[in-house]
Amino acid sequence: MKAMITGASSGIGEAIAVTLHKLGYELLITGRREQRLNDLAHRLGDERITVQVLDITDSQAIKEVADEAGVVDVLINNAGGALGLASAQESELSDWLTMIATNVTGLTVLTHAILPQMVERHQGTIINLGSVAGEFPYPGGNVYGAAKAFVRQFSLNLKADLAGTGVRVTNIEPGMVGDTEFSLVRFDNDADRAASVYDGMQALKPEDIANLVGYIVTLPSHVNINTVSLMPVDQGFGAFNVSRH
Ligand SMILES: NC(=O)c1ccc[n+]([C@@H]2O[C@H](COP(=O)([O-])OP(=O)(O)OC[C@H]3O[C@@H](n4cnc5c(N)ncnc54)[C@H](OP(=O)(O)O)[C@@H]3O)[C@@H](O)[C@H]2O)c1
Repeated sequence: MKAMITGASSGIGEAIAVTLHKLGYELLITGRREQRLNDLAHRLGDERITVQVLDITDSQAIKEVADEAGVVDVLINNAGGALGLASAQESELSDWLTMIATNVTGLTVLTHAILPQMVERHQGTIINLGSVAGEFPYPGGNVYGAAKAFVRQFSLNLKADLAGTGVRVTNIEPGMVGDTEFSLVRFDNDADRAASVYDGMQALKPEDIANLVGYIVTLPSHVNINTVSLMPVDQGFGAFNVSRH
């Protein structure tokens, strides 16, 4: 069995690679940072791991990698992230477009490329990394939340189309996951600001998401988990914000 994981060079994707490797999967791990991927492959010490540099915003490269990959049993659409936490009116358009290119377009193009061989073989599992941001708005979430809302609805609509094909689709929507580079990337490598996000609370760990993935892929083939929303116990929901004049 072969699993392809995007964004395996850090955080959640890396933890998922470790878990699927333990479960005996042959791995195709991708991301932009080749050294990080090589380090992971070396750490796992398994020649059944293929490292492929892939920028998920490059549609042509995605198609070439998917063609070369051949049979993929499990596709983990994990690459993505947020850029900035500015209000919509203060955001950089380039950040918005990059978030759409990674979280939406890249995931869509890769899914389109991998799906036919799954349907043909009547077997396959696609797991997308959405976010609670795709369901619950928060100030500064703007395009990141909208992108993850796309992932949520795309996953459900894939499920609608794939009924009867044997292909499973799950959207995992985590709240705060620490020990990743998510906040570092969001805050443009400001390590102090990134660390402060998780100050005094216990965030989810990448392994929590990886364990969930391990559970989902080992379920009997007739079982499809549609959506999983999970949060740290220390995270909750905010009240509506009212502007008073
Ligand atoms: N951490 C959280 O609190 C949280 C919560 C909910 C959902 N999520 C979602 O979980 C997923 C993984 O995030 P994480 O928390 O593990 O953050 P992370 O440590 O920053 O990992 C993000 C991964 O995505 C890859 N990536 C980013 N842009 C890419 C591009 N253009 N092409 C290829 N790969 C790219 C990165 O690899 P390279 O830089 O090497 O390319 C990296 O491996 C994301 O989709 C994120 O939105 C995270």
